[in-house]
Amino acid sequence: MTDRDASDDRRTESWTGGFSRRHVLAGTTAVGASALVGSGLGAASTGANAEHCFEPFGDDPTATWEISDARQIELTEDNTAPVIEELTDIAPNLWVWDYWPLREMDGSVACIDGWNVIFALTSPDALLPGKRHDVAEIRYFYSRDGQDWQLGGPIFEPNRALGNRQWASSAVVDSETREVYFYYTAVGDQENVEDTYPPVEGGITYEQRIALAHGAKVVASDSGIDFERRWDHEILLTADGEYYQTMDQAGDGIVYAFRDPWFFMDEDTGCKYLVWEANTPVDPENTPCETQNLDQGDYLSGVAAEGAQYNGNIAIAVSKDGSMTDWELAPPLLDATCVNQQLERGNIVKMNNRYYLFAISHKFTFAPGIDGPDGLYGWVADSIHGDYEPLNGTGLVLANPSEAPFQAYSWIPVPYDDEDKVALLSYYNYHDLGEKTLKDVGDFSEDRQREVFGGTLAPTIVISIDGTETSFVEELPAGYVPSECSDLDGNDGDDGGSDDGN
Ligand code: FRU
Repeated sequence: MTDRDASDDRRTESWTGGFSRRHVLAGTTAVGASALVGSGLGAASTGANAEHCFEPFGDDPTATWEISDARQIELTEDNTAPVIEELTDIAPNLWVWDYWPLREMDGSVACIDGWNVIFALTSPDALLPGKRHDVAEIRYFYSRDGQDWQLGGPIFEPNRALGNRQWASSAVVDSETREVYFYYTAVGDQENVEDTYPPVEGGITYEQRIALAHGAKVVASDSGIDFERRWDHEILLTADGEYYQTMDQAGDGIVYAFRDPWFFMDEDTGCKYLVWEANTPVDPENTPCETQNLDQGDYLSGVAAEGAQYNGNIAIAVSKDGSMTDWELAPPLLDATCVNQQLERGNIVKMNNRYYLFAISHKFTFAPGIDGPDGLYGWVADSIHGDYEPLNGTGLVLANPSEAPFQAYSWIPVPYDDEDKVALLSYYNYHDLGEKTLKDVGDFSEDRQREVFGGTLAPTIVISIDGTETSFVEELPAGYVPSECSDLDGNDGDDGGSDDGN
C-alpha cells in the first residue's frame, strides 16, 4: 500500500472532495464508502452544487479484484453465451468491431425522429484483422428497427480528430439541442497527424488520451441520419502517473491503457462521470503480488517473474461543475493489480439504487495462475466509488462458450425493456480456432486470418441482474440495439423511412 501524500498540492487544491489517500493495492479490502449526498438535482447540476459529486471519493480506498475471487472463475449455464451460428455482415469491405449506440444523458439509447444510431470502430477488410487497431476509424450507422443498419460514413472529417486514430468511445446527445458529445480515445502521435495518417508500419505509437468532440448536431431526415460537422476537438484527460500509469511508466507491458471513455450520469444526484480503462502504476521491483499470503506457488512465481504487468484498473473522472467539457481525475473505482492487465471499456449502470460496474477482458491478460475467459466482468457497490464486490462471487458475468472461446468480444450494456435486465452489445470476433488462441492467429496464413475473423456485429445477449447475481436470459439477433424505436420483428418505423441496410 502506498499512502497518498497529503502534501500533494496539485491534487488537493483542485479537489473539493480533498481525498487524501492513495488507493490500496491488492490484498487489502476496502471498507465503508461515504454515502452519496443526493441533491435532487436533475440533469444539469452546476457550479458549487457539483461539490457533492466529489464526496464519495473522499478517503476511501479503491476496491480491489481479489486474487482469491478471480481464481474461482468458472463457466456455468448462467454466465455462458450460446455458440454464434450465423454471420451477419453489416458493412461489406469493412471490418467492424467495438460499437456503441448514441445515448441520451440518462443512459437510454437515443431515438432521433425514429432512427437508432450506432458508432463502430472500422477499417478496410483488405487489412489483416490484427492490423485493424492501427488504422481504426469511427463510422456511424443508422436504422429504423435497431437491427438493419445502414452505413452513414466516418463520423469525423479526415485528419481533424485528435490522435492519428480513434478507439472506443461513448456518444451522448442533448435531447433539447441535439448537440452530440463524443468522448473518444485519441491514440497515437498527435503532433504528426498529417504525416502519420494513415499510419505507416513502424511509425505506429500507442499514446492514449481521453478526448472530446462536440459542437456537431445530429440531424434526422426521412432518408437517414447526418451530423452537422462542426466538431471542436479537445483532449480532456491524460494519465497522471499517480493513479493512472503513463505510457513511459508502463514500459513494455502487455498493452498500455488509458482509453475507452464511457459517459455516465447519476440521475439521482445529477453528477456526471467518465469511466474508462487504465493501469495502476506499480513498481516492478516491488510488485504487491508477492505480498499476497496465499498458498499459490505457481501464481506467485509467475507474477513475480513477469513483474508488474498485471495492473489493470477502471478509471473515473468527475464533471467539475456539471458541464460536459470540464473533468477532474479521481481515484480508480477498481484495481485489478495482480489479477489482470486489462479491464477494457469500463462503464456503469445504475439499477435499484446500486452501481453496477462492468468491463471486458481477455483470457491472455489474466495473471499467471488465474484462468478467466474472454468475457464481460462486473462488480456492484452502493456508492459510485465502491467498495465494489464482484458479481457472482468471481466477477464473471458473461463468457464465450468453451467450444468457441473467442467468438465475441467488447460487450457493452444498454437498458432492456425490463428494469432488471440489460442487453449486451458486442462484435463477432475470432471463430473456428480449434485449440488455438488469440495469440496464435498471427501465425496463420493471411487468408486464414481473414477467414476466422468475424469483423461484424454479434448477437445481442440479454442478462438479468438480481443484487449480486446475474444470469443469461436470451440471445437476440446480431446487432440488435433495443430502444424506444427499435423493433425486434424488423418492421420499419411508422414514419416511412428506408432501412434497407447494406
Ligand atoms: C476492445 C479494444 C478497446 C480499444 C479498441 C482498439 O476491443 O481493445 O479497448 O479501444 O479495442 O481497437
